[in-house]
Amino acid sequence: MNNKIVLISGASRGIGLSIAIHLANIGFKVIGTARNEFKFDSTLENLIPLKLDITCRESIKAAAISLKEQNLLPDVLINNAGITSDQIFLRMKDEDWDNVLSTNLTGTFNLTKAFIKNMIKNRDGRIINISSVSGLMGNPGQVNYSSAKAGLSGFTKSLAKEVGSRGITVNSVAPGFIETDMTSFLDNDSKDKIIESIPLNRLGNPSDVADLVAFLASDGARYITGQTISVDGGLFMY
Ligand code: NAI
Repeated sequence: MNNKIVLISGASRGIGLSIAIHLANIGFKVIGTARNEFKFDSTLENLIPLKLDITCRESIKAAAISLKEQNLLPDVLINNAGITSDQIFLRMKDEDWDNVLSTNLTGTFNLTKAFIKNMIKNRDGRIINISSVSGLMGNPGQVNYSSAKAGLSGFTKSLAKEVGSRGITVNSVAPGFIETDMTSFLDNDSKDKIIESIPLNRLGNPSDVADLVAFLASDGARYITGQTISVDGGLFMY
């Protein structure tokens, strides 16, 4: 055990689940949240499931009070929960825009607001936001999603500047195409086309992202802040 507590949103499956298990395996106490009730299929005692909708500020406030009472306020916050609602812009409905922005961008604001005060008090903390290659290079059908994810870069930089002097780092990780439920709609032809544009010649696995996040949560990343770091097989190069 390293005595550090992590709270990660969207940990019931996909990238979030992989990060939660990786961090629990290397000794963090991990509180993994998801929108619906769930259990971890793991015997690790330091992996705690919590139902929490990141768009509901009242639930977040209540969760923060309860975690404080249990001495479980996080040292590391990972804003991973995200959704897509893809549609070409001309057909994009207001709710496609509102839902995607309120989960991917405002949800990150909501969770960070609830948990940063304790990090400031401790003069120590890590905030890691899961962005997307779509926020860096754009993607047709994802005006809502790429706006939200690009917004996370601004969020990351501004907050990093505000809280650096308090010992808190704020970074984003921008995954490329990772095989999860979110990309399960892709047929084999579409996957082959995407793979042609990836220098490392394959889609990513959730563990590719978890390895980078674990580094950012570690002491080794103490002098890195305000960055958006890609883990995309070279799909997008700055
Ligand atoms: P996923 O769809 O497999 O899992 C999403 C998780 O977020 C689930 O645990 C779900 O319960 C949770 N979630 C969604 N809305 C929520 C809400 N309102 N409150 C609480 N939890 C909520 O997604 P995946 O692929 O694991 O994605 C994780 C993150 O990585 C997302 O932010 C996504 O945008 C990002 N990402 C994924 C890529 C991919 O290719 N799969 C590529 C780039 C970024």
